[in-house]
Amino acid sequence: MSFTRRLLATGLLLGGTAFLPAAAQAQGNLVVYCSVQEEWCRPMMQAFERATGVRVAMTRRSSGETMTQIRAEATNPRGDIWWGGTGDPHMQAAEENLTLEYRSPRLSELHDWAVRQAEQTQFRTVGIYAGALGYSYNVTELNRRRIAAPRCWADLAKPEFRGEIQVADPNTSGTAYTMLATLLQVMGEEPAFTYLRALHRNVNQYTRSGAAPARAAATGETLVGITFLHDAVTQKIAGAPVEIVAPCEGTGYEIGSMSIIRGARNLDNARRFYDWALSPEAQNIAGQANSYQLPSNRNSAIPPQAPRFENIRLIDYDFARWGSAAERTRVITRWEREVRAGSR
Ligand code: G6P
Repeated sequence: MSFTRRLLATGLLLGGTAFLPAAAQAQGNLVVYCSVQEEWCRPMMQAFERATGVRVAMTRRSSGETMTQIRAEATNPRGDIWWGGTGDPHMQAAEENLTLEYRSPRLSELHDWAVRQAEQTQFRTVGIYAGALGYSYNVTELNRRRIAAPRCWADLAKPEFRGEIQVADPNTSGTAYTMLATLLQVMGEEPAFTYLRALHRNVNQYTRSGAAPARAAATGETLVGITFLHDAVTQKIAGAPVEIVAPCEGTGYEIGSMSIIRGARNLDNARRFYDWALSPEAQNIAGQANSYQLPSNRNSAIPPQAPRFENIRLIDYDFARWGSAAERTRVITRWEREVRAGSR
């Protein structure tokens, strides 16, 4: 037998799996679309590979972008499971029949908010974490400009914040869509659009990814960054001179979600990942990766740095309505036309 044939026979020439033991190769592959921070995506995939021997190929994209991609690939799906990202686009994907029903044996271990997310979509998605929306500002820059510290949504529309605010684009980012839906719920639709037009004049950049403005506020590249509070906590813990604000009028929150993609080629492994990702063992990786959301399994450890809902004025976010395909499309289209298209 030639050397090559011997290698082939022992499975050692099988592309990237060359150095995995035969038992691991037998576990097959999994393609994951990840919509949390890259810093959390990577250790999650590595831990799953270690725990199961399944080989994972992972791509990180924002929530809205991932939904658009899954829709574009619907006739020839390439991904198996979509892990993380805000719940609204997961709900839209469920409604558009792009994702599959699955009832994990771990459902009984989850908080009510995570189970409700599943029930509202005929079990096509499920909650994996939660986090509230708000903003952070760079204290050094604020003092340098002698601007009074903002406390409310209303403050961000004031003229002194002209060009000082960064937020993501709701077409790509679930964070930014959560902000639109939140403001519509806090203020009512017409006042919210009046506010968004005023805010637009103060925005220096609409970023692609939701958490980018927290990083920009940390470095002083922008004065204020609108993000989930936990994304700002990550920066503050790393030593950035930022203050974090849960707006005084009240604010919305996300139920970070997970869905199995219809047509998944590695369906068994997708279910395996799904069950594992709902376990305390997997959810506890978040804190180690500097991600401070509230985990959905009641037995997972809540990172001590995670912003607690008890301390925030939260609205009763209507996920069924704002996660529906019709509303999400309508609100983003109206924002494009009436806000984004306006001059600054
Ligand atoms: C960050 C947050 C997550 C959130 C995600 C949404 O990673 O930490 O809690 O789900 O952003 O990302 P996107 O880019 O879609 O706003």
